[in-house]
Amino acid sequence: MFLASVGAPESQRQHQRLPMDPLCTASSGPRKKRPKQVGASMASPPHDIKFQNLVLFILEKKMGTTRRNFLMELARRKGFRVENELSDSVTHIVAENNSGSEVLKWLQVQNIRASSELELLDVSWLIESMGAGKPVEITGKHQLVVKTDYSATPNAGFQKTPPLAVKKISQYACQRKTTLNNYNHIFTDAFEILAENSEFKENEVSYVTFMRAASVLKSLPFTIISMKDTQGIPCLGDKVKCVIEEIIEDGESSEVKAVLNDERYQSFKLFTSVFGVGLKTSEKWFRMGFRSLSKITSDKTLKFTKMQKAGFLYYEDLVSCVTRAEAEAVGVLVKEAVWAFLPDAFITMTGGFRRGKKIGHDVDFLITSPGSAEDEEQLLPKVINLWEKKGLLLYYDLVESTFEKFKLPSRQVDTLDHFQKCFLILKLHHQRVDSGRSNQQEGKTWKAIRVDLVMCPYENRAFALLGWTGSRQFERDIRRYATHERKMMLDNHALYDKTKRVFLKAESEEEIFAHLGLDYIEPWERNA
Ligand code: CTP
Ligand code: MN
Ligand code: MN
Repeated sequence: MFLASVGAPESQRQHQRLPMDPLCTASSGPRKKRPKQVGASMASPPHDIKFQNLVLFILEKKMGTTRRNFLMELARRKGFRVENELSDSVTHIVAENNSGSEVLKWLQVQNIRASSELELLDVSWLIESMGAGKPVEITGKHQLVVKTDYSATPNAGFQKTPPLAVKKISQYACQRKTTLNNYNHIFTDAFEILAENSEFKENEVSYVTFMRAASVLKSLPFTIISMKDTQGIPCLGDKVKCVIEEIIEDGESSEVKAVLNDERYQSFKLFTSVFGVGLKTSEKWFRMGFRSLSKITSDKTLKFTKMQKAGFLYYEDLVSCVTRAEAEAVGVLVKEAVWAFLPDAFITMTGGFRRGKKIGHDVDFLITSPGSAEDEEQLLPKVINLWEKKGLLLYYDLVESTFEKFKLPSRQVDTLDHFQKCFLILKLHHQRVDSGRSNQQEGKTWKAIRVDLVMCPYENRAFALLGWTGSRQFERDIRRYATHERKMMLDNHALYDKTKRVFLKAESEEEIFAHLGLDYIEPWERNA
């Protein structure tokens, strides 16, 4: 039983503003390294209320006075109206480590009848809202569930607090299930920004540290709300824990804030958003003093690659993400073209869309056929030719295969594979329903879409599928796992057992997991 329904409109009642207790407005956060503020009565000035139709009450039970006072002050500073006492005007009750049933019981003791409009929320909602600087949308993961039967499965239905007996979490993403249901966005967003910044600085060690931290947090079935919750979680070193602690206490990380304001980070982020522009080019442009794309494109002395020219030409389309509907439409084009030449070809949409993502930066396809090697080799050139004739080809780069049958898998976790492949930009005409209307450019009836086509030999299809499904972090970890835990070598082509000195064949991804002694992880659980 849910007390409040998802996305229920906020209460329309008029609220009377209660005076705030000045004693509660002075902050002295629980973090030790910060000197305690002297003179708690030196109250901070009253804060403006930005969100008028929300009245919060933070439950002290199980949270403690210090943390409650701290959260109340923080929320008020962010423009939330927070009451000291529970009254009729309260619209949102925020609790920590309490189930919905526990909150209800407490309300009963206080002689307050919970109306259906009252939201019973986990503290994670408040923390996320403070991070966002506004109330975030309330979803099921924030709402406290009122359990009707206590003897039934413990922790059923909701897991906003860590389960009592936590199964040991693996340091490898291939031994964790990571769906798109991320309970720790506030932390993982921060670590992804820090990782990206490390990548821009070509600091590999720091990049890996932050990516692994983001990845393990994405797999948790609960929101981290106190440092206690991080106990026993791998991949969280001191540096990472410091960032987590700061976010728990302040709702944001000062280091992330500094990165977002950093000129070099901002420039690299902008430059690398252009298809064909990597770190080297960004570095060059940054050193030359460029800070905007318009200055770069209007500069007469700069030379661009064919790829970058396409990147600038279709910039707006390419930075706006590909939707699943667009991906499906591209899938129809790919099937039509491929089957025209190789009717028995297998075509699978891989990458983020196979993992269930709703949007992507491109659409990836793996193509394979049990037919002859020659047919196989000729397919992509024929497809390109066909699209060119139809006027659908905006850009392409065909990379010939360098695949050798008995080559040992690569030792590196991040190397490119040897299959024949084609990186393209396709012209996708809008479906009739929304033709023209949603587009800014008057009269433009198509969108440029990035597409990756990979052609692999039939015997390698399971490895290629596993390799091209991602996520990148999942791929890195399953290779690392193979090397360090199984003395095997895995890449997009093959799996080699170094002890037995044999290649292990596989017809399906399930067989590869079985060879590695891993429980099977579904594609939608590989969003590490
Ligand atoms: N990949 C690869 N070799 C490449 C490029 C990609 O093996 N040269 C694999 C990566 O493991 C990656 C997957 O193919 O996980 C898909 O790559 P990409 O399209 O870059 O990422 P997605 O996960 O699909 O994410 P997005 O939605 O941004 O496209
Ligand atoms: Mn992709
Ligand atoms: Mn891709």
